[in-house]
Amino acid sequence: MDDLKNKYLSEILSAQDETTLEAIRLQAVGKKGEVALKMRELGKMSPEERKVAGPALNALKDEINSALSAKKVALEDAALEARLADEWLDVTLPSRERPQGSIHPVSRVMEEISTIFADLGFAVAEGPQVEDDWHNFDALNIPPHHPARQEHDTFYMHRDASDERPPHVLRTHTSPVQIRSMLKQGAPLRVIAPGRVYRCDYDQTHTPMFHQIEGLALGKDISMANLKWVLEEFYTAFFGRPVKTRFRASHFPFTEPSAEVDVQCKWENGTVTVGEGDDWLEVLGSGMVHPNVLRSGGIDPNEYQGFAFGMGIDRLAMLKYGIPDLRAFFDSDLRWLKHYGFNPLVTPTLAGGIHG
Ligand code: DAH
Repeated sequence: MDDLKNKYLSEILSAQDETTLEAIRLQAVGKKGEVALKMRELGKMSPEERKVAGPALNALKDEINSALSAKKVALEDAALEARLADEWLDVTLPSRERPQGSIHPVSRVMEEISTIFADLGFAVAEGPQVEDDWHNFDALNIPPHHPARQEHDTFYMHRDASDERPPHVLRTHTSPVQIRSMLKQGAPLRVIAPGRVYRCDYDQTHTPMFHQIEGLALGKDISMANLKWVLEEFYTAFFGRPVKTRFRASHFPFTEPSAEVDVQCKWENGTVTVGEGDDWLEVLGSGMVHPNVLRSGGIDPNEYQGFAFGMGIDRLAMLKYGIPDLRAFFDSDLRWLKHYGFNPLVTPTLAGGIHG
């Protein structure tokens, strides 16, 4: 009997997994196992022999069973330990570097411009890029057959002869947002509207899609003087240095009087620096809002007046950040974006600030 006990206890001790352990269990104390066979032999024994052998067999069975369950627990513990060791990870390790996108110069400049105008009390307004021709032209005092319609190289949306909706265009400027803002908010009003505009044009300084920012300020006594002050503040804040501006008489259908605005600049070796020298660079169209435009916006021109302006954002980005070719702005070349883009985690700070 001791042989049996030693044999099984050492087998149990050296078992490496639960499958082996189960095989040992069946062979030793299973229904048809060795101990069971020995139990069956008890019947052939004399009562004296049985008195000794019976309890001994039961004790053997108990001993094997408890060795089995002890080993089972030990195996489970070992498996858990192994898993813990295997799945350990060092949370203090620095993470692997991931390529990070950058902010496009146009987005960055839009954000800078919006920040400056927010300081001057202007809210941001938006309008659709697919615009009806009333908002894009008629409401802005550009009737059908007005030469300005041709000058705009408009993209018309395709439509069937049976289509009864008003003709739609890709907006050629952000000025229709003036009308939408007036109709929605009434006067007094101070908004800017940055966004995409479209014209059928493509060369080194023109892309079929580009960006403009519109400005509109309406009140009882808003004048050209306010326009001049706001724009001077804006350019000084945007370029981070005092910038002289020049107002030239001009013509736009939606303003009367109208002025084009130039900023002081210097040309040197094919590059231009704003805020120095004695050359001038045209950057913006503006004027006092035409009474017809106020009427289209549901505003009484005898009660309210104000100024409007519109400028190209892409050009400002080129000037401020020394970017030579406009077309590269929209090529989505990752090398270009990496070079001219901005860290998304750094928000614009404005060197010039707002005075007055
Ligand atoms: N909409 C004009 C353009 O795209 C720019 C412009 C000129 C906007 C004068 C204005 C303005 O608001 O007053 O060329």
